Amino acid sequence: MSEVMLEISHLKKYFEVGNKQTLKAVDDVSFHIYQGETLGLVGESGCGKSTLGRTIVRLYRPTEGSILYKGKEIGVSLPRKEEREFCRKMQMIFQDPYSSLDPRMKVLDIIAEGIDAIENTGNAEKRRETVLHLLDLVGLQEEHAHRYPHEFSGGQRQRIGIARALAVHPEFIVADEPISALDVSIQAQVINLLRQLQKKLGLTYLFIAHDISIVKYISDRIGVMYLGKLVELAPSDEIFRNPLHPYTKALLSAIPRPDPKIEKQRERIMLEGSVPNPVDLPKGCRFCTRCPLATEACSLSEPPFREMEPGHWAACHRYDSAENK
Ligand SMILES: Nc1ncnc2c1ncn2[C@@H]1O[C@H](COP(=O)(O)OP(=O)(O)OP(=O)(O)O)[C@@H](O)[C@H]1O
Ligand SMILES: [Mg+2]
Repeated sequence: MSEVMLEISHLKKYFEVGNKQTLKAVDDVSFHIYQGETLGLVGESGCGKSTLGRTIVRLYRPTEGSILYKGKEIGVSLPRKEEREFCRKMQMIFQDPYSSLDPRMKVLDIIAEGIDAIENTGNAEKRRETVLHLLDLVGLQEEHAHRYPHEFSGGQRQRIGIARALAVHPEFIVADEPISALDVSIQAQVINLLRQLQKKLGLTYLFIAHDISIVKYISDRIGVMYLGKLVELAPSDEIFRNPLHPYTKALLSAIPRPDPKIEKQRERIMLEGSVPNPVDLPKGCRFCTRCPLATEACSLSEPPFREMEPGHWAACHRYDSAENK
C-alpha cells in the first residue's frame, strides 16, 4: 500500500449566506488520499465536491478540521515561503477551459505565468523552452504557443489548462469536472492524457465528476458525496460490485448497461423528492428524506462514517439490515 499523501479530518467549510443563515457546503468530512492514486469524487450538483476540492488545495480556508499534507498541517495560514510552496504543489484544473484562460494572453504567457511566479530568471529563451516542452507533454505543437485561447477547440483549451497546471511541477492535482464541458468524442482523449501524465510525472489526483460512470475508469477509489457529507468511499471495482449506501445504489442503478440482457433486468431505484435545501438540512441522516430504506431512527441521529468492510467506508444506519443486502 502506498503512503498517505493527504489526510483530511473532520473538515468543514461553511458559507454565511443571506439572513444570517449558514450553508454547510462541506460538513465533517474525513478521508485520506494515497500518494500516486486517483480518487474519484462524485455526487449531484451542489453536494459540495468543488468546495471540498478548493478547500483541500487551499483556495478556501476550512471552517474547521484539519488537512495534513505528508503529515504537515496546511489548513491554516502558513509562513509566506511555505504558502508559496503549497500553492505550487497543489494545482487545480477547471471544468470550463473557456473561462479559465485569459482571452487576451497568448498561450505562451498563459502557461508561463506560474513559472514566472516561482522562478522568474528573466531568461526568455529558457522560459520559451519550458513552455514548448509542456506543450509537447500535453500533445500540442510549438506553433500553438503564439496563439490566443479563442483559436483552440474545447479539448485543446483543456490541454492548455493542464499544461498551465503542470508548469509549476505540482504533486497533487484537483481536476474539477475537467471533461464535462467537452464533446463525448474528446472526453476519452483528455482522460487518457491525464492518465499518461500521472504515470510519467507520479501525480496524485482528486478527480471530480457528476457522473459515477465517468470516474470508474480513471479512479483507484471512489468517494460519493451527498449534501456536504461523504457517504461512501471504496476501491472503484468494489463500489460498483458491492455498493453499501442506498444513495450509491441509486446512482449506480441509473447507469445504462451495454449488455441488452442485463439492461432489460436493470431495476432503477428512483429517489423520491428533490435534494433538500442545504441551509435547512434534514435532522439525522441527511439522506433520510429520500432514502427507500429509512426508518424513524434514521431521522434521529447522523450515521457515523465508518469502515464497514476492509477499505470500504460508508455512513448508513441500515447497513446491517436485511433489506440492505
Ligand atoms: N462561495 C460560496 N458562497 C456561498 N455558497 C457557496 C459558495 N460556493 C458554493 N456554495 C454553495 O455550497 C454548496 C456546494 O457547492 P459546490 O459548488 O461545492 O457543489 P458541487 O458539488 O461542486 O456542485 P456542481 O456539481 O454543480 O459543480 C452549494 O449549495 C453552493 O450553492
Ligand atoms: Mg462543482
